[in-house]
Amino acid sequence: MSDLHNRKVYQPNPEFAKNANIKSMDEYHALQNKAIENYEGFWGDYAKEKLDWIEPFTNTLDESNFPFVKWFDGGKLNVSVQCIDRHLKRRGEKTAILFEGDRGDVQKITYNELSRSVNKFANLLKEDLNVKKGDRVVIYMPMIPEAAYAMLACARIGAIHSIVFGGFSSAALKDRIEDADAKIVITADGAYRKTKPYMLKPVVDAAITEGSPIEKVLVVERNNEEVTWVEGRDVSYTKLIKDKSDVCAPEVMDSEDPLFLLYTSGSTGKPKGVQHNSAGYILWAQMTMEWVFDVKETDVFWCTADIGWITGHTYIVYGPLAMGATTLMFEGVITYPDAGRPWKMVQDHKINQFYTAPTAIRVLHKMGENEPSKYDMSSLKVLGTVGEPIDPPAWKWYYEEVGSSKCAIVDTYWQTETGGHIVSPLPGATPIKPACATLPLPGIMGEILDPETGQKVGAGESGYMCITRPWPSMIRGVWGDPERFVKSYFGDVKKDGKAVYFTGDGATYDKDEYITITGRTDDVINVSGHRMGTAEVEAAILKHKNVAEVAVVGRKHTIKGECIFAYVVLKSGEETGEKKEINAFIKQEIGSIAICDDMVFTSGLPKTRSGKIMRRILRSIAKGEAITQDISTLEDPSIVAKISEMVK
Ligand code: WTA
Repeated sequence: MSDLHNRKVYQPNPEFAKNANIKSMDEYHALQNKAIENYEGFWGDYAKEKLDWIEPFTNTLDESNFPFVKWFDGGKLNVSVQCIDRHLKRRGEKTAILFEGDRGDVQKITYNELSRSVNKFANLLKEDLNVKKGDRVVIYMPMIPEAAYAMLACARIGAIHSIVFGGFSSAALKDRIEDADAKIVITADGAYRKTKPYMLKPVVDAAITEGSPIEKVLVVERNNEEVTWVEGRDVSYTKLIKDKSDVCAPEVMDSEDPLFLLYTSGSTGKPKGVQHNSAGYILWAQMTMEWVFDVKETDVFWCTADIGWITGHTYIVYGPLAMGATTLMFEGVITYPDAGRPWKMVQDHKINQFYTAPTAIRVLHKMGENEPSKYDMSSLKVLGTVGEPIDPPAWKWYYEEVGSSKCAIVDTYWQTETGGHIVSPLPGATPIKPACATLPLPGIMGEILDPETGQKVGAGESGYMCITRPWPSMIRGVWGDPERFVKSYFGDVKKDGKAVYFTGDGATYDKDEYITITGRTDDVINVSGHRMGTAEVEAAILKHKNVAEVAVVGRKHTIKGECIFAYVVLKSGEETGEKKEINAFIKQEIGSIAICDDMVFTSGLPKTRSGKIMRRILRSIAKGEAITQDISTLEDPSIVAKISEMVK
C-alpha cells in the first residue's frame, strides 16, 4: 500500500498547460462542482453548445424509468451531420481521415471528400440494399477508410451498425449477426497484413448459413483477391458506388434513437449487444477529445485501436470527426517492418496525440527499446493508454523515451458500456502518477464503493468502481434483453438504497483520492486489453467432441497483461489431449484472441459438493501459489494436489 501512496508525481508541462482546454486543477474542480450543484444544467449547456440540433431538446435528463434513462429528449439531430456537414463550410478542405495502409500507402481524405463518400455510401445502402431506419447492419471490415464511411453512412440513414472485429471467427460472427437480427453485412474481400493479402469474405460466407437473417453482402474491394460470389446475395461496392448521388438527406433522428450496437463479453453467457444512442454518445465522444486529448484545430490525432472495438468507434471515428479533427487510421501492424513503425509514422505525419494499449507499449518497448530516439517525435503533446492497467516500467519508458519526459500520459479508464472516458487525467491540469487513471472527469460521478454498505471506501481500501448518476454516453440497453441490462450493471451495488452503475472493476483510492483500477472483479479476462468472458471460452472448448469438462481462468502475462489458462477434462477413453488441436478449435469458434496460453489435462476439477467449480483455487494454482483455502468441503479434495503437481 505504501507504494500506492508514495508514487512519484509528475506535474503538467507548464508550457502545454498555458494553452490547454482545461488549464488547472482549479478549473477542473470548478467544472466538477458545477456538475455536482446543477447536474442537468451542466450537461444541458454543453449539449446546446457542442451539438448542432435540427430541433432543440426539451428535457435534459429523464430518470423516471431508471436505469432506462433518456438524455436530451425531444431533440432531433443526425450524428453524421455532427461529424461531417457542420464542418464543411469552415474546414471542407481540411484532412478528416489520414489513412496509412499496411504497405505504406497514404490517402488524405478531406471533409469534402468524406462527405461525398458517405453520402454515396448512404444512397447505396438505401437504394440497392433497401436499408431503412432501425435496420441492423453488421460491419466486418479491415481498417480502411470505407469502414468509417460505412459507419457514418449507417448513421446518416438511421440504420444501426454493429461492427464485428475482423479477428473474430465465422462462428462468432454468425452469433452476432443472428443476435442482432441483421439483414446486411458490409465486408471486404480482405486486406493486407505485413504486406501480404489476407481474406475476410470467406469468413462471412461461412457465417451465413441456412436460416440466416442476412439478405445481402456488400463487398468492398481492397486486395482484389479472388472470392467466391453468391449470386443474388453478394454485391460489389465498386460497381454500385459509381453512379450514386453524393447527396443524401440525413435522417432526422431522436436524441435517443440507437446509433450502434457493439458486442462485448460479460461474466456469464454469450457476448451482449451493448447499445449506444445518438445525442448523448456523440456529445461525450467530442467533449473527451477536447478535454482528455486536448485536440486543437491543427492537430493530427492517432488512435491505434481497431474499429472493431469501442476505442476505435469513439476515438478513431466519432470523437475526432465530431470535433473536426484529423484522425489517422492505420491498416498495418505496429511492429512491422520493425518496432520503429509507429515512431516513423509519428515523424511522417507529425502526430500530436498518440493513443494505444499497454500491451502495444510493452511489445514496442521489448522489441525496440531505442527505436523512439531514431525519429523526430517533437510533434507529440499527449500520449494515451487504454484497455488495461499499465505497469510502471512500461509507463516510465512511454513517458521518458516516447514522450521525451514532456508529454502528459493520460491513462484513460473506461469501457464499451461507458461510451467514452470516465476516469482520466486532464493533460494540462492533473498532476499524474505512473499507472494511475487519477480522477473522474468533470460531469462523471465516479466513486469507489464498498459493495456491502454502498459507502465510499477510504484511502488504501479496495472497492467497486461505480458511477452513481447516469451520464450522457451511458449504455442504453443490452440488445433484445432488458433484464440482462438491469441485472448486469445495476444489480450489485446500492448507494443510499438506490442501484448504481457498477463497472465490474475493482479499484482503490490513494491519499489524494486518486483512483487506481485494479482489474475485473468478475470472470472476465483482459487479454491484451480485449475482454474475454470465461464462460464464452469454456462454451467454445466444450463444443469439442472429446472434452467432458473445462474451466478457464486468467493468469498474469508479461506482454498481454493477462492470458487464458484452461483446465480440461477429457471424455473417458479419449486420447486427444493436444493443446494445439483444442486451440485450433477455439480459433474456429471465437478467434485467435481467445487462444489459451496454458492448458492442462486433468482427471477432474475442484468442485463443491453442489457441483460449483472453485475457480479461486484454479486461479491460485495457475499463479503457482500455495493453496491456503479450506479444501475439505470439496467433492474430491485430492484433485487439488493432483492438478498442482501437473502445473508445476
Ligand atoms: C479495462 C475498453 C485499467 C477494465 C475501453 C474495463 C482498464 C475494461 C483501463 C473495458 C485502464 C480499460 N486501466 N483497466 N485505463 N481501461 N480497462 O469494454 O477492466 O473493451 O472494465 O473497453 O478494460 O474493456 P472494453
